[in-house]
This record gives sequence, C-alpha cells and structure tokens, in this order.
Amino acid sequence: MEVRHFLTLNSLTRDELLSIINRAEQLKKQFVEKNYETTLGSRVLGMIFEKSSTRTRVSFEAGMAQLGGHAIYLAPTGTQIGRGELLEDTARVISKMVDCIMLRTFEHERIEKFAAYSDVPVINGLSDSYHPCQLLADLLTYYEKRGSIEGKKVVWFGDGNNMCHSYMNAAKIFNFQLIVACPEGFEPDETILNETKSNVVIERDPEKAATNTDLVVTDVWASMGQEEEQNERMQKFAKFQVNTDIMECANDDALFMHCLPAHRGEEVSENVLEGPQSVVWEEAGNRLHSQKALLEFLIA
Ligand code: CP
Ligand code: NVA
Repeated sequence: MEVRHFLTLNSLTRDELLSIINRAEQLKKQFVEKNYETTLGSRVLGMIFEKSSTRTRVSFEAGMAQLGGHAIYLAPTGTQIGRGELLEDTARVISKMVDCIMLRTFEHERIEKFAAYSDVPVINGLSDSYHPCQLLADLLTYYEKRGSIEGKKVVWFGDGNNMCHSYMNAAKIFNFQLIVACPEGFEPDETILNETKSNVVIERDPEKAATNTDLVVTDVWASMGQEEEQNERMQKFAKFQVNTDIMECANDDALFMHCLPAHRGEEVSENVLEGPQSVVWEEAGNRLHSQKALLEFLIA
C-alpha cells in the first residue's frame, strides 16, 4: 500500500481533511469523558524537533499515549542529525523502527527529502514554509464554533509566513476568501499566491482588510530562525497589530485565532488575546484532538 504523508494540507483531499475534523470531534468527546479508544496500541511515533516547541510536542506525545501507543521525542540537539548524519540516512533508519515520524524543521525541502526516504508516514510539524497541523486545529475550532467555513471571509494579519501559506492552502481547499494584510516586502510566497489566487487577495490597509470578516488570524512577526530581524520587523509591522480597532471592523460574531506562542503588545493587543472573541486556548487544545485523528488516518 502507498505510504501517505502529511507535508502540506494539499497532501490530503478535502473529504479526507473533513473526515479527520469529524473524527477529531469524536475523539474530543472521548477525551472529555476519559473514555479512550486505543486504536493505535503498540504503535510508535518518532518526533524529530530541529526547532523549539511546546504545543506540537505535548499534543503529539499525549495523543499517542491516549491512543494506546507511544511517542519518542528527539530534541534539536542530542541526535546524530545534530552532528551531521544525513537526513536521508536518518529517515531510512528511524522508519524501520517506528510507525510514523513527525518532523519540525527549517527549509521545507528537508521534510520533502525526509519523506522521500521514509518507509512510514511523515507529518510536517512545521517547516519554514507550512504549518498544516495547526490548520487542522484551526479548522476544527471554526467548525465547532461556527459550522462550515465555506464562503466565509478570513483575514490574515502580519507576515506572509508558514502559517499564512497554510491558510492560503486551506482557503483554496475549503473555498473561503482569505485577505492577507501584510506590509510591503513581507508578502506570502509568489508560487503559493499563484496557486491560490482564486481565494486570496493582499490588502495593505489594515482596517479595510478586517472589514466584515468572520475570522481574524495573526502570528508572531519574527518566526523561529528570524530572531535577529525582530527589531526591524517590530517597526515594519507596527500598523498590522490586531487590536480592538481592528476587531471592531470585523463582523460582531467574528472569532480571533493565533497559533501561539503570542507576543502581547506586538502582533496582538492583550485585550484582544484575552477578549471575548478570542478562541486561542481552545484552538491550542484542539491540536490534541485533530492530530490524534490525523495519526489514526495515517497509521491505523
Ligand atoms: N503553535 C505551535 O505549533 O506551537 P509550538 O511551537 O509550541 O509547538
Ligand atoms: N510562524 C511561527 C509559528 C510558530 C508556531 C514560527 O514559525 O515560529
């Protein structure tokens, strides 16, 4: 049987993604009732982190335990990858011992290469270009709160980064309109923009961008690996902060999401992050349920 990977949202069809969201809702119910179905008994997930993580690590590790399996955490340092062992060699070795591998890394090509050499499914736990696992959680959260996202208007504030690219993929797959409000020079990747242009537009005026939207989303201005650009970005992104003025332009029932970690007072004001429209804590919690459904889909 062909091995399926989850490298971007486009790795799966719309129907497959929807079935994962539906299953995640069931798994969430089981979690609340502490009535677990151990569908992945004896199965093992290897997790390789070349960057830091809180949510991704905890959600995958807890998820595997709840499904009756086990997860192995390989830290940014301490493996032979850190000492120069080739990614393709690591992929061939680890995939002979585990049932699935999650990789968080820098260039997206690294994860594509890893998957090409792996005998088992590979999950993108974030690359410089995409963060598809976060989108599963965001979509689950939107479906739970508001129903179908099809035809809705979503605004992305800030950097045209990995999260923004995954939102662009989601806009095309689920047919919603995505407005990207970003400063000049920080646009999303042109190829991805071309692929998704039927559903995505760039708008430089923050208030215009937010007007009549159903969902407002942002992320840090400097992603992991861009720490030295932090000060320059703080200035260039200043007018793209999501604050109450922006939320007032959105629809009254608009939701606010952020993949976290958040920098209060930078990309989002404290009162929006902690305000009534913010669903960021449930969104973070939904990483667990949506990824358990993904693991079942790929492994079981
Ligand atoms: N949102 C997210 O992926 O968080 P972590 O970096 O903590 O895993
Ligand atoms: N864009 C952020 C997302 C963190 C979950 C980063 O890559 O650091």
